[in-house]
Amino acid sequence: MKKAFVQNSNYVRFVEAVKAVEQRGAREASILLVTGPAGLGKSETVDRFAMDTNAIYLRAKETWTKRGLLSEMADCLKLSNTGRNQEVQARIIGHVAARQTPIVIDEAEFTVRTTASILECVRDISDLTEVLVVLVGMETIESRIARYPQISSRVAQVVHFQPLNQQDVMLTARQLGEVRIADEVVAELHRQSDGRMRLVMNGIAALERLAATNGLTEVRAEHIKDFPLCHDWQGRRTRIPGRTA
Ligand SMILES: Nc1ncnc2c1ncn2[C@@H]1O[C@H](COP(=O)(O)OP(=O)(O)OP(=O)(O)O)[C@@H](O)[C@H]1O
Ligand SMILES: [Mg+2]
Repeated sequence: MKKAFVQNSNYVRFVEAVKAVEQRGAREASILLVTGPAGLGKSETVDRFAMDTNAIYLRAKETWTKRGLLSEMADCLKLSNTGRNQEVQARIIGHVAARQTPIVIDEAEFTVRTTASILECVRDISDLTEVLVVLVGMETIESRIARYPQISSRVAQVVHFQPLNQQDVMLTARQLGEVRIADEVVAELHRQSDGRMRLVMNGIAALERLAATNGLTEVRAEHIKDFPLCHDWQGRRTRIPGRTA
């Protein structure tokens, strides 16, 4: 499978939301929330955005403390992380303000647990610098953030990632697949994957294996009869194309 980023409909909606935040009226309302079920492509999308914009990209950890956040931010910006929290934070603010570096925090549900002190630290940085903050998490993150008005009132946009539509799956199959995949097989891949990018990727890889095993230049409907395309640990579809056992 080729390695490339596919500009699917979730990406398009994410980019539109970023533009809307950039054009916001209240400068301090700079948070963009990205939510959605597992495997829809949230991390890949914000990772691409972070690379394109030289953003600070952090993946929150269950064990994160305020110090952990500041240390990782400082490391990411190649700043010294010695001194008290306030000193490290001041260094980060100076750097971020001068360069308008966006901040992306993936798995951000770990930043709002019994308290929101870690997010409040991010809010302090963004209030002073007015940079865009992208918080990415599962759907539960919205209700967790709603408990903290100092944070939730700064959310300018929410992007709910949606299952891929058939056009998205087609785009993915055409751009990443190293074997020609017929339209009816793409439709089946869409159906079996429920539009989850992670399963679509697995399905394309499985189709490539099927093609290699059977010397096919194109995978058509007749080749995938009885061969589930997506591995689903919940047991609905567990057979891989090309295997008989
Ligand atoms: N637009 C894209 N182009 C190419 N590959 C993608 C794209 N979006 C997602 N992927 C791939 O699909 C898989 C799932 O994506 P990703 O890990 O970003 O999902 P997620 O929504 O962050 O899931 P989780 O909630 O489990 O963290 C990954 O292997 C990723 O590389
Ligand atoms: Mg993710």
